[in-house]
Amino acid sequence: MKPSTIAIDGPAASGKSTIGELLARRLGYLYLDTGAMYRAVTWIALEQGIDIADEEAITALTKRVEINITRHTADDGRQYTVYADGQDVTWHIRRSEVDANVSPVSAYPGVRQALTDQQRQIGQRGRIVMVGRDIGTVVLPEADLKIYLEATVEERAHRRHREILDRGEESDYEEVLAAMRRRDNIDSEREAAPLRPADDAVIIDTTELSIAEVLARVEELI
Ligand code: CDP
Repeated sequence: MKPSTIAIDGPAASGKSTIGELLARRLGYLYLDTGAMYRAVTWIALEQGIDIADEEAITALTKRVEINITRHTADDGRQYTVYADGQDVTWHIRRSEVDANVSPVSAYPGVRQALTDQQRQIGQRGRIVMVGRDIGTVVLPEADLKIYLEATVEERAHRRHREILDRGEESDYEEVLAAMRRRDNIDSEREAAPLRPADDAVIIDTTELSIAEVLARVEELI
């Protein structure tokens, strides 16, 4: 029988969202990128001028804000559309201010609790590919298939750098690399749900692999 709940975890730019979306499309499953939820909270906090270091205020905001992720509503390269309190924030959450602040926000246990509850509710319905940092370990520990994607930090920084340039924005490789190292550190060292593969996850190193090759490996597993 095909796995109904698929968890894909890994660090930034390891290929999670590309593989997750393609896989979900092939299987006819729902695709949920949980990083977008942490990013949406971070963007709203920045927009409202809430101090990122103020754990209590950020946690209260997370409980208050309504995040909705739907099918893409425009053909502008987006994978899906993200609404925060009814506002389309799909592109706002990709800004560098969000990149720089999302990891401290995601380290707050209260923030994780609120978002994890929502993710679990969606996951329980099955026929889903859920992508993030802690899906196999915390959100859906009972997932039918767990995949952990990794790649060297230099390769991941190159991918992110190209993505930013492709969007027509300016990017400096060394800056992207330094920011990615900082985020990797916070994500792996935090107490609450640190980034790590689940014991029963299949680990795939994507450094030397094309998207098609990674997808082929994942499909073999299915
Ligand atoms: O796209 P990228 O891999 O750069 O990041 P993302 O998946 O959008 O996640 C952004 C940030 O949200 C990560 O650096 C984590 O700090 C946090 N995150 C998390 O803590 N748990 C998740 N399940 C997903 C994201």
